[in-house]
Amino acid sequence: MSGPSGKARTIIITGGSAGIGYGCAAAILSSRDGPWHVVVASRDAGRAQAAVDRLAGAARTGHRIEAVPLDLGSLASVRTFAAELTDRLASGGLPPLHGVVCNAGVQAGTTMTVTADGFESTFGVNHLGHFVLVNELLPVLRPSSRVVVVASDTHDPAMKTPVPDPAWNNAYALARGELGPAAASDKPFASGQRRYSTSKLANIYFTYALARRLPAGVTANAYNPGLVLGTDLQRDAAAPVRFVSKQVLPRLRPLVRRIVSPNVRTVQESGEALAWLVTAPELAGTTGRYFDGRQAIRSSHESYDTARAEALWNDSVALTARAGSATSQRSTT
Ligand SMILES: NC(=O)c1ccc[n+]([C@@H]2O[C@H](COP(=O)([O-])OP(=O)(O)OC[C@H]3O[C@@H](n4cnc5c(N)ncnc54)[C@H](OP(=O)(O)O)[C@@H]3O)[C@@H](O)[C@H]2O)c1
Repeated sequence: MSGPSGKARTIIITGGSAGIGYGCAAAILSSRDGPWHVVVASRDAGRAQAAVDRLAGAARTGHRIEAVPLDLGSLASVRTFAAELTDRLASGGLPPLHGVVCNAGVQAGTTMTVTADGFESTFGVNHLGHFVLVNELLPVLRPSSRVVVVASDTHDPAMKTPVPDPAWNNAYALARGELGPAAASDKPFASGQRRYSTSKLANIYFTYALARRLPAGVTANAYNPGLVLGTDLQRDAAAPVRFVSKQVLPRLRPLVRRIVSPNVRTVQESGEALAWLVTAPELAGTTGRYFDGRQAIRSSHESYDTARAEALWNDSVALTARAGSATSQRSTT
């Protein structure tokens, strides 16, 4: 079997140890293009190394893969990760950076948790962690580099997903776990789900604001993987919800497609589409777009509110600049 030829380039995948990120890494590593050097960036070192071992075993000759620890729920970890990667890129210890796939994500359960810096976890991990990561890596993004942010159609009320619609608020309030008025009468489960859809709307504001700031040739696009059954996204949900989501629903795919969403995809399908977004030569000039799978479509009406996106950007700069070293705490909603 002949392997890819040419100059190697690096692709960082946050949350590449499981679910859609793992599917993306597998697709990149089986590509005839490249060679690619994939960095799996996840918080759990054991799970990440096990995933890397599996991925390396199945990779096409010529590609490389490694795990580098990253906890998006700790801005100190994010900065350490970015500094290490920047040093290695500058010294030639890593091939030039081609892509950053902001894929890792958490969905809150019924309990509100906060990150190491004291931010509500869904907003802190899904948005602020990636916000700082990409900003720290901006100096090493070169023309033809790409940022792909994994969002979700739950950000869009028109999609009528089972997840409650976003309830936008300013970034300071979201960082404290305070959603907008639409969430006023939410019970804890609905509240956690709504924090998730709201964080996914933040992912899209971030992508569009980033695309406006990137130098020529560097692109940023958002991605909706569809409803991907059997991943660990519900890991913080109550045990019965976890069981149904991980064990039952994947066996009832045709029923879920008919009743819940026609947009049901496998890990492999959504991982392959994500890999395509970050590697396909035909997308080199495409930026500031939202992809549903491989199709560029419009995101929700409110996601095009530029003033809101710019306010989120500026507030995220301020929030993360003064993020201290507060230790992780738990409290109930
Ligand atoms: N599944 C769906 O139906 C669906 C639909 C729309 C959008 N999405 C989006 O797709 C993305 C991937 O979700 P998934 O379904 O594949 O979930 P998943 O199976 O739970 O995978 C999430 C990945 O993120 C990592 N991660 C979680 N918290 C992290 C942190 N603080 N720092 C670094 N890595 C962290 C996990 O690594 P550890 O092992 O270290 O925890 C894991 O590798 C998310 O952004 C999600 O919002 C999913």
